[in-house]
Amino acid sequence: MERRTLGRTGVEIPVVGLGTWATLDLADAEQKVADAVVGAAFEAGTRLADSSPMYGRAERVLGRALAGRREEALVATKIWARSVEEGRAQLADQLGFFAGRVDLEQVHNLVAWHEHLDWLERERDAGRVRFLGATHYSPGSFDELARVMRTGRIDAIQIPLNPREREAERELLPLAEELGLGVIVMRPLGGAGSPIPAPPRHELAPLGTVTWAQALLGWALSDPRVTVVIPATRNPEHARENAASPPRLGPEERSLIERLAGS
Ligand SMILES: NC(=O)c1ccc[n+]([C@@H]2O[C@H](COP(=O)([O-])OP(=O)(O)OC[C@H]3O[C@@H](n4cnc5c(N)ncnc54)[C@H](OP(=O)(O)O)[C@@H]3O)[C@@H](O)[C@H]2O)c1
Repeated sequence: MERRTLGRTGVEIPVVGLGTWATLDLADAEQKVADAVVGAAFEAGTRLADSSPMYGRAERVLGRALAGRREEALVATKIWARSVEEGRAQLADQLGFFAGRVDLEQVHNLVAWHEHLDWLERERDAGRVRFLGATHYSPGSFDELARVMRTGRIDAIQIPLNPREREAERELLPLAEELGLGVIVMRPLGGAGSPIPAPPRHELAPLGTVTWAQALLGWALSDPRVTVVIPATRNPEHARENAASPPRLGPEERSLIERLAGS
């Protein structure tokens, strides 16, 4: 699979990662479901997995599914807490789930970002966290995200990007490029509750044999400012499909996908 550099961190990662929202919030008895999905994704070349304390049991379940693969994985998770105390408790849990290290710690939805970056920088200096990031799903908060980016304190952002959600193209992607920040794309298929419906198969014929999911992932990755897309799935077949090398698309193919997505 193609690899891209996560901004100024210099770390090279395969361009398709794995999201875990909703899909890995599983009971202990269902761990095998997660093991199969994570196994399929990693065998197909995925290395970055994204989670959050907001996703119920997903971090714990992901940590177990990564047993035996932890060294090859790049774990991106989040602090989602109003207070420093609560945030520290979340990190303590994560260090237990992920063998003592978080690779990319992101401030989820910018909640109390100033307070969290202060102590997270010390955790990074102590080696428990490798890189810092920030995420937001809503264009209404992109100005604030841009302010965080300009502080020079984070290495990567996580934003939505698909043919129906393109607001990040206006300011955030140019700014990420200027500052040398990695870009992680959430909701590349349209989002867990609102996937962009697939068009009839014959409409995709100009793209060759690619599936609709691969077309959407290829669409996001055809923007060179994007580092990695993180589709979520509970289905090992979908994990394999998503991680199969996404198509490289030119302007005409991008336009076709935008039209088929109804954007
Ligand atoms: N920071 C934030 O505010 C934030 C917000 C949203 C998301 N995220 C992160 O971004 C990740 C991705 O976003 P998302 O989960 O909202 O949406 P998404 O990845 O765009 O879409 C997920 C949906 O697509 C389906 N899917 C996956 N692969 C498929 C395939 N090959 N063919 C057909 N359907 C497929 C999945 O169902 P199946 O299980 O049936 O495959 C699931 O319902 C999240 O899991 C999370 O890690 C972060």
